[in-house]
Amino acid sequence: MAVILGIESSCDETSASICIDGEIKSNIIAGQAVHAKYGGVVPELASRAHQQNVIPTVDQAIQEAKISKKEIDAVAFTRGPGLLGSLLVGTSFAKSFALARQLPLIEVNHMQAHILAHFIESPKPAFPFLCLTVSGGHTQIVLVKDYFEMELLGQTLDDAAGEAFDKTAKILNLPYPGGPLIDKYAQEGNPEAFRLPEPQIPGLNFSFSGLKTAILYMVQGKEAENPNFLQENMADVCASVQSRIVSILLNKVKKAVKQSGVKDVAIAGGVSANSGLRQGLLELGEKHNWNVFIPKFEYCTDNAAMIAIAGYHKYLKGEFVAQDIAPLARMHV
Ligand code: KG4
Ligand code: ZN
Repeated sequence: MAVILGIESSCDETSASICIDGEIKSNIIAGQAVHAKYGGVVPELASRAHQQNVIPTVDQAIQEAKISKKEIDAVAFTRGPGLLGSLLVGTSFAKSFALARQLPLIEVNHMQAHILAHFIESPKPAFPFLCLTVSGGHTQIVLVKDYFEMELLGQTLDDAAGEAFDKTAKILNLPYPGGPLIDKYAQEGNPEAFRLPEPQIPGLNFSFSGLKTAILYMVQGKEAENPNFLQENMADVCASVQSRIVSILLNKVKKAVKQSGVKDVAIAGGVSANSGLRQGLLELGEKHNWNVFIPKFEYCTDNAAMIAIAGYHKYLKGEFVAQDIAPLARMHV
């Protein structure tokens, strides 16, 4: 039997999870309300909140899994990418826990873990498959050849898809994080109400900064004519923005399938919780006969279950790290 404790602290969620023989028994997530009033994550505040949250979160994960600390066989933690101050808290905790209990330590790449969240529950994708990983910090198309063998086929040249949602929300005077709110308003709106440009970026790379500027100019122009423009048109604006972000993402996925010949397609990361993206991918899958994999909501945004499952697969391979391991703010898949 292999009992893995997973710890995630890369951004603004402190999370702990217990995985027993590849099955997730608990996945506790402590969010940080402190950032909402600043319109984005404040790194120093995030780091301090992780320090407060990490011990109770781990205790709760152990309790909910109905095991005792003594039964844990290894500790997996997010090494990066992420905010250094945040990563330091999870890394230091994992190292101390492993040292005190003489347990092996497993480093996990957060971006790989978002993808490996697909191995928490069935149906699980077969290798190779394509994964569109879309989060607050990243937008990537990855060819996943094996658990830890991943090839980056394309990525954003500027903003991430989650940033495009969050920065648009700021323009629309919506609180942070704006992605889920835009999604909510979009469900009541007309996606064709406002025309927004699709950037012409070669290959499988993405760009979202031009779209953000186009939205800003569109809103400023309309508000000059009608100061109540946003209040009166929030649903239509959100639906139009969401539909454009989704079409940018899915057009590149279509291209990736054509180029690679791989017809198994997954989405991962916080933005994969978006209802427009989920629906759009399902429709494309049906139309083109792809096998489509969409994660459960709780495994889309940051969570430790994905760290624990990635840790479990490294545990099986005996891939451990020494106590002198340090977090890395930048890491590739
Ligand atoms: O993966 P994640 O939790 O954290 C990072 O690693 O960045 O992703 C967070 C991002 C935020 O930008 C948030 O606005 C976005 O995911 N997000 C959404 C939705 N839920 C979360 N974006 C659009 N629609 C959603 N339903
Ligand atoms: Zn993430």
